[in-house]
Amino acid sequence: MRTLIKHIRALSAPADAVIVQGWVRTRRDAKGFSFLELNDGSCLANLQVVVDAGIPGSAHLASFTTGASVVVNGNLVPSPAPGQKWELRATKIELLGTADASYPLQKKGHTLEFLRTIAHLRPRSNLFGAVFRTRSKLAFAVHEFFQSREFIYVHTPIITASDCEGAGEMFRVTTLKGKPDEKPEADFFGKPTYLTVSGQLEGETFACALSNIYTFGPTFRAENSNTARHAAEFWMIEPEMAFCDLPGDMDLAEEFIKAMARYALEHCAEDLAFFAKFVDKGVPERLQFVVERPFVRVPYTEAVGILKQSGKPFEFPVDYGQNLQSEHERFLTEEHFKSPTTVFNYPREIKPFYMRLNDDGKTVTAMDVLVPGIGEVIGGAQREERLAQLQENLEAHQLKPEDYWWYTDLRRYGTVPHAGFGLGFERLLMFLTGVANIRDVIPFARTPGNAEF
Ligand code: 4AD
Ligand code: MG
Repeated sequence: MRTLIKHIRALSAPADAVIVQGWVRTRRDAKGFSFLELNDGSCLANLQVVVDAGIPGSAHLASFTTGASVVVNGNLVPSPAPGQKWELRATKIELLGTADASYPLQKKGHTLEFLRTIAHLRPRSNLFGAVFRTRSKLAFAVHEFFQSREFIYVHTPIITASDCEGAGEMFRVTTLKGKPDEKPEADFFGKPTYLTVSGQLEGETFACALSNIYTFGPTFRAENSNTARHAAEFWMIEPEMAFCDLPGDMDLAEEFIKAMARYALEHCAEDLAFFAKFVDKGVPERLQFVVERPFVRVPYTEAVGILKQSGKPFEFPVDYGQNLQSEHERFLTEEHFKSPTTVFNYPREIKPFYMRLNDDGKTVTAMDVLVPGIGEVIGGAQREERLAQLQENLEAHQLKPEDYWWYTDLRRYGTVPHAGFGLGFERLLMFLTGVANIRDVIPFARTPGNAEF
């Protein structure tokens, strides 16, 4: 039976007759025997294999080069080498696929930029193995977090006709051929449709029936910002809670990020240690801080005051009524508060139509969670549940009420206060691993001008 290297490393006693399959990382030849370092991606560590000259298959040993795929039968014996309990004494080796000298992942370190050009092979590197194992663990942790709290997982559509965020950054989905006389009604769905930027509006309909729900799926934005934190396709987690207000929403957001950090510490220790050593030495301390300390909460108006008084020469001006830029967000969380920070009650003009108007008539119940190194990881709000006010909001944002008839119906029939947020899964991964570019925490990045693979 085939055994994963991860399981071999966890064995408490040596084992006879195991079969291991994987890719050769390196081979060293000595007199009468060779060492193979084998990796199967199940964990960061390689398995050391000792191949004695003359065992079945050893005639092909010269083809066991870096990148080749192999099967090894053997017995596990205690290893004299540091950092590993067992090594595999091969009794038989077999080559599955060769890899010649053009194999691009050689032993020397490669730059992240180079590895992006071979996104089909980079999961075989130590860094990307660690990133994508961590991503998988955390995806599971997301479900565990919400399922254990009785949130119901809802699959919201990828194709939609409504622009949730009102930012106009949508990818059009069409079967029209682009001829001048074609009418929008002739399109596949009889109206213009797009890839969703958020499942929130559909999520709200389910929260207003099932109480607590969450979505977890891909979202798309045609924003032409070629930054280290923006992707055109990214994964978002969007919980929505009926009978919940803004403080309850901020509580859940904070609890969620803390739970993700705790899960990573408990379930991704080997990979986190790798990040700390080779990517960002601040990782362990940061995760511990996130788990242990409450986040700072500050109203937008106060945050603007802090930024103005900071004397910092920001590239973008700070003024009430302006969006906080990434440099402002990072100043607040990295330099001023030195803590994850939730900013709430933003001016209504700079936020989407669905947010609840506060009694001051000027601000809405928005909240953004900012973290060091990244800026915004979460955006959320208590939703406008009052029919008349929602209709006024739609008008103020120059949206057509008839396009949102089903969304306004929720306020017409049994309306309830409700709130939710969206967390960008890649930004969370950047925060937890220290990996600085969003392109390096998503298997195949979709960014402006880039859809290879
Ligand atoms: O702040 P945003 O735009 O909020 C919404 O979409 C709401 N509908 C969420 C809700 O209340 N249910 O996006 C939420 C999060 C951001 O905080 C950020 O982490 C991430 O999604 N995000 C992106 N991540 C990667 N690339 C992009 N282009 C992103 N745009 C937003
Ligand atoms: Mg936002």
